Amino acid sequence: MLDVDFVRAQFPAFSEPSLQGQAFFENAGGSYTCAPVIDRLTRFYRERKVQPYGPFAASEVAGAEMDEARARLSALLGVDTDELSFGPSTTQNTYVLARAFRQFMQPGEAIIVTNQDHEANSGPWRRLEAEGIEIREWKIDPGTGRLNPEDLEDLLDENVRLVCFPHCSNVVGEINPVVEITALAHAAGAFVCVDGVSYAPHGFPDIGGLGPDIYLFSSYKTYGPHQGIMVVRRTLAKVLPNQGHVFNGATLTKKFTPAGPDHAQVAACAGMVDYIDALAAHHGCAAGEVHDLMRAHEIRLLQPLLDAVAGRNGVRLLGPKATENRAPTVALSLPRSAADAAAKLVDHGIMAGGGDFYAHRPLQAMGVDPQRGVLRLSFVHYTTEDEVAKLIDALDRVI
Ligand SMILES: Cc1ncc(COP(=O)(O)O)c(C=O)c1O
Repeated sequence: MLDVDFVRAQFPAFSEPSLQGQAFFENAGGSYTCAPVIDRLTRFYRERKVQPYGPFAASEVAGAEMDEARARLSALLGVDTDELSFGPSTTQNTYVLARAFRQFMQPGEAIIVTNQDHEANSGPWRRLEAEGIEIREWKIDPGTGRLNPEDLEDLLDENVRLVCFPHCSNVVGEINPVVEITALAHAAGAFVCVDGVSYAPHGFPDIGGLGPDIYLFSSYKTYGPHQGIMVVRRTLAKVLPNQGHVFNGATLTKKFTPAGPDHAQVAACAGMVDYIDALAAHHGCAAGEVHDLMRAHEIRLLQPLLDAVAGRNGVRLLGPKATENRAPTVALSLPRSAADAAAKLVDHGIMAGGGDFYAHRPLQAMGVDPQRGVLRLSFVHYTTEDEVAKLIDALDRVI
């Protein structure tokens, strides 16, 4: 069992006086930051805030810490060090990748996108239609929000070069079968781009084992600094045209990040791995097993919340009603403004969000007006049973 007291002791937010008495349920928007990340960020700014990779001591340690972050994170994710890049955000990373694919593809070739994705893994690809790329939409079931792999099979043919989909939607919450979908796309000769932003906070995935060619997530939601982390597997990275400076095209970690790196934040990303290693050491398991510890804890807390909201009059729970294949990102469509409901929850010591969460397409496809939005209750492994009980009690009063 996950030792939640130990977990919470790694997050300064839980002992911060100004945050006391409030239970945090907007983790899908951005998580609290773990102490090793804050420590590394502060240390970088104090001791080594100089141009890295130079000949003097401060510069050497700055560069070494940035390299350490890339090496340890890629090892945790099951990919090679040069397959991982840091960009300003996932949205920026998909934007750059879309430019690369535009140059790589011939007019008339096709990209498959879904209407389950956050706009970040949808809009940049769809815009390529104006430049002669065919866009095919893999549609969700309007009732359940589910992406059915059989529907993807009908869309695949030899013209498709890329299939984009989320590991988990930020409003539906269902965990998509990445291995199965990737196998279908690869069998048809297409590359695969997975938005893992809503999945990665629930346990860093074994990207190598999952198999996609591109996997993206945002470290400000995985207990780290505000970066977009992008894995592009080497076979694809080599054939895509360079988007960085002309002389950087042979360096895979610079090829898709035209913005200069945020040195301090890149270095601080090593703190996320410090945190996972500390959890592994405390629980006597391997770093790769921390994922399952987190998931088991989250599942235990999730079912009571799903049960409490599923049958309520006037409330529609989006996505699965059971915890199997579900992340603890619980979106509710209400008969009134979701933002109002979230504001009312504040009086009951609950920090949650109401809105469309840039998921216009899935909300519209499920018949939810993005203006009215959804009340989103999202938690992670540091959430306690008591906090979920407090949330359920607050929901009784507010909705
Ligand atoms: C599922 C999903 N994908 C992509 C993004 C965009 O990430 P970023 O803010 O790093 O651009 C978000 C942000 O909330 C998200 O929830």
